[in-house]
Amino acid sequence: MLMTKSIVRATAIPGPRSQALFARRTQAIPRGVSNTIPIFAERAHGALLTDVDGNVYIDFAGGIGTLNVGHTNDAVVEAAQRQMAALTHTCFAIAGYEPYVALCEKLNAIAPGTGTKKTVLGNSGAEAIENAVKIARHATGRQAIVVFEHAFHGRTLLTLTMTSKAKPYKVGFGPFMPEVYRLPFPYLYRRTAPANAAAYEAELAEFFDTHVAAERVACVVIEPVLGEGGFIPAPPEYLEVLARMCKANGILLVADEVQTGFCRTGKMFASEHTGLDPDLVVTAKSLGGGLPISAVTGKAEVMDSAQPGGLGGTFVGNPVACAAALAAIEFMETHGLAARAEEIGRKVEKRFAHFQATNPIVGDARGIGAMRALEIVKDKATKEWDKERTLAVVRKAADLGVLLVTAGTHGNIVRTLMPLVITDEQLDEGLEVLEQALL
Ligand SMILES: Cc1ncc(COP(=O)(O)O)c(C=O)c1O
Repeated sequence: MLMTKSIVRATAIPGPRSQALFARRTQAIPRGVSNTIPIFAERAHGALLTDVDGNVYIDFAGGIGTLNVGHTNDAVVEAAQRQMAALTHTCFAIAGYEPYVALCEKLNAIAPGTGTKKTVLGNSGAEAIENAVKIARHATGRQAIVVFEHAFHGRTLLTLTMTSKAKPYKVGFGPFMPEVYRLPFPYLYRRTAPANAAAYEAELAEFFDTHVAAERVACVVIEPVLGEGGFIPAPPEYLEVLARMCKANGILLVADEVQTGFCRTGKMFASEHTGLDPDLVVTAKSLGGGLPISAVTGKAEVMDSAQPGGLGGTFVGNPVACAAALAAIEFMETHGLAARAEEIGRKVEKRFAHFQATNPIVGDARGIGAMRALEIVKDKATKEWDKERTLAVVRKAADLGVLLVTAGTHGNIVRTLMPLVITDEQLDEGLEVLEQALL
């Protein structure tokens, strides 16, 4: 018998009101906008989400890593409401306002990377990645961009080109952008080649000989832990070799911390785990505490390369989103969310190791801090991915009261992105449900 403390099951999932909204959605919204669980949210707070039928779920998806400070965080709501009443929008190019400046100052102070930094704001992760590439091209005078297999950088045409997963993201949307080259990601669970610094160095040298000459490359863009690609941490030796080769060849290193940033991995940024010194860092998702905002933070001399007017946009750095982001970051710092992510991670890691040891479908359990994943396979020896079973696990978990999100190029990974304000009781209850869903 499952002991439910936070989860409330008021109706079948989806309930009648969700079903009615789904019917309207089908008429009004194109099928390209998809979803895994056909429920509709009414309200949410902390790590709990209530749907329109009164069902309460423990949220292990967190708006896909956007709610590290929790749903409707009181400090974020208060800051946003105060800002909303004072000044909602000017366009920063028309009249400046302090929250934009203050947020850039804050990001310059906390983002990874040595030296003096500057920041430019955007609306979404994809927009910030686009800006990082523009800045890198301008600063180096080079055109080529290097990305990785299993990468996810967004859905605009440049970032979709940089994204790896062909189905469903890329099908039918080409032609894609020129001058984007792709390296294999060091995916240790599936790697057959040696995994050490010498092997990585040889692979990178071969890549620059056979795919694109190093002196033509503006930047390498890497997620320190692959997000959508399956929560695959880059080995520290790999990052060390990559950073060294970039520096030796005048290539800028761009850390995409859109999903890994803001305490998820047990540090404010994942780059801190290995002392990575990126030239540019891209952030979004949990930066805004639930409001849409993104940023590129980088070494001042690189950031200052683009000409006045070369960077910007109507809504970028919206004052309400800036106020929310400042409140969210302050909350992370004053509530020790990075340390809390470590604690959550230790608990989840222990439980996931048990799943891996006892459940024949759990091929791998991995991650850093509270960014943890299970890789679902048909057979532990062949490691054949099992997308259907993974979807079934996510659907069963929703039925039992936990919202989860899949990942992986082959859709066979279950990832945890719970708000870091989740209580121990909610975490235990959610993990109990996940164990049931895996059976
Ligand atoms: C690592 C990473 N980069 C970029 C993006 C794109 O962000 P957005 O969806 O805000 O455009 C995502 C989104 O999932 C991401 O995980």
